[in-house]
Amino acid sequence: SGCDRTVVYGCLLHFLDDPGDPPAEQAWELFEDGALVIENGKVVWLGPVQRLSDQHTADAKVIDHRGQLVLPGFVDTHAHYSQVDVIASYGEQLPQWLDKYVYPAESRFDQPRHAELMASFFLDRMLAAGTTTASVFPTVHANSVDAFFAEAERRNLRVLCGKVLMDREPHAPSHLRDLSVAQAREQTLDLIARWHGRGRLGYSITPRFAPTSTEQLLQMVGQLRQERPDLWLQTHAAENRAEVDLVRTMFNARSYIDVYDRFGLLGPRSVFAHCVHIDDQDRTRLAATHSSIAHCPTSNLFLGSGLFQLAEARGARVQVGLGTDIGGGTSYSLLQTLNEAYKVQALQGKRLSAARGFYLATLGGARTLQLDQQIGNFQPGKEADFVVLDWAATPVLARRTEVATSFQERLFALMTLGDERAVAATYVMGKRHHSAPARS
Ligand code: GUN
Ligand code: ZN
Repeated sequence: SGCDRTVVYGCLLHFLDDPGDPPAEQAWELFEDGALVIENGKVVWLGPVQRLSDQHTADAKVIDHRGQLVLPGFVDTHAHYSQVDVIASYGEQLPQWLDKYVYPAESRFDQPRHAELMASFFLDRMLAAGTTTASVFPTVHANSVDAFFAEAERRNLRVLCGKVLMDREPHAPSHLRDLSVAQAREQTLDLIARWHGRGRLGYSITPRFAPTSTEQLLQMVGQLRQERPDLWLQTHAAENRAEVDLVRTMFNARSYIDVYDRFGLLGPRSVFAHCVHIDDQDRTRLAATHSSIAHCPTSNLFLGSGLFQLAEARGARVQVGLGTDIGGGTSYSLLQTLNEAYKVQALQGKRLSAARGFYLATLGGARTLQLDQQIGNFQPGKEADFVVLDWAATPVLARRTEVATSFQERLFALMTLGDERAVAATYVMGKRHHSAPARS
């Protein structure tokens, strides 16, 4: 037949819903001796190997990952490909860190060759970490969007991106400033026409954050969002205390979220990174408008921004996903991001179970980006992006896994001790895109 069929053998785990706390077992399916059947890049069946039919295996290519854990590809709901070279920059909190490290690095992205190299590097590190979808900030330069989408398309990845919008003095430096709102809108519309909905690519309207935005810019963004509900929106919100105070003064607002609300930026497909310093009123508005939050724990700890209140967000029914926030964040790995997310909860006397952690890294992320019709789990019809993890990738993991007495204990060891070394392979629509180097 003209059909491209693959059967993957391994320990399969995927989520059908948020397990909550304490985790509810109905929220996931686990097939320890499982099979995943893929046709033309999409899932057609999954279940225990004993129930696999001849119909599924006829003419099928076999991929054997028995003894390893097969999960839906990780979803990074917030990162900057323009900050590859900024990762691990010393000694500053957000406002000074942006001025001292980020803006100088981003000024180089007017050179198409530099943007291409960075996009290529970023996407390869992302795949090596088991991440198959991300919502990504480029820079203010239109060519930086072209470079990112072109490299993502070459790898057949489902990603979101959009030109960074920033036009306000003095917080947007002059060499990284949109010259006018009209021109920013024109450039945005041109990029939308060329990239949005092309293959697996989606356009996200990307105002950097309130301090770099004039009221006219935010008004334009709100209007575009209303005209085009098929687009996404990504920005930063309430990350750092000094930033929050600044924004409340600049816009004479009750809260940071109120500023975005005022201009119509809240709604489905709107993703707000950080939201560390928000209150119940903000959470109620985010939930009511079906807005979502990208929780970026490695960044919030590294930049000393604060402790995100995950349990409170869940209590208010706000959709949350995980973000690496490269380069404020310190790891491309969603496993390391979960490790830090657990510690952020621990510092607040709370917990993050392995079940909920792996939900957040997969289906939770897909829901945060409203991509859960396409990705996030192995329900038949979904695109077969997946990651294969090795329980014994390091001596420390191997030892801890060996003494574990339950599956959840092993999962928790993976999310605490795992990183790129635990990724045996990453598959994009059923095709292998990354392999770990062989260990001796
Ligand atoms: N707020 C505005 N821009 C940025 C950025 O590049 N990184 C982070 N972490 N926060 C921001
Ligand atoms: Zn960010």
